[in-house]
Amino acid sequence: MLAEKYPERIKQIFAKYPDKRSAVMPLLYLAQEEYGWLTEEALREVAGLCDIDPTQARSIAGFYTMFAEKPKGKYWLQVCTDLPCALRGADQFFHELCEYLGVDPEHGGTTDDGLFTVEPVMCLAACDKAPVLQNNFHFHENLNIEHAKQLIEKWRAEAAAEEDKDDEAE
Ligand code: FES
Repeated sequence: MLAEKYPERIKQIFAKYPDKRSAVMPLLYLAQEEYGWLTEEALREVAGLCDIDPTQARSIAGFYTMFAEKPKGKYWLQVCTDLPCALRGADQFFHELCEYLGVDPEHGGTTDDGLFTVEPVMCLAACDKAPVLQNNFHFHENLNIEHAKQLIEKWRAEAAAEEDKDDEAE
């Protein structure tokens, strides 16, 4: 439970707002950080902390693309395919990226190994630097598919190295 695990952080978050309900977004972030995505239980927990109905917490989580309502891969890749970015080739970039990762080229999805989730999103506020990809909230701009493939392989190697380290530690 967030309240038991992070009492100080929650106190600090509430201290920034005059009304408990205003803390819903930072608390959703905290829940997502803890659970990896916003489970029904996480939404209830946040709603309980903010004294709001879980439906309200769910609607906020559903509105913003930075909140995950489904389990995601370790690397959560969001590509803006909104019109200004599409005009700079983001649509084509998204399709090629999906094909490279072996997921649905229209809607994206999660790779079979659970390592990558790729999805199209609306404006990420980097319209002049498209194609733009956000990986776990880190931006990569002015991409082309070759550069993106290099990033994917770098992340794949990092994940494998982490796994090796974990195996050694056991
Ligand atoms: S329209 Fe793609 S970042 Fe703004």
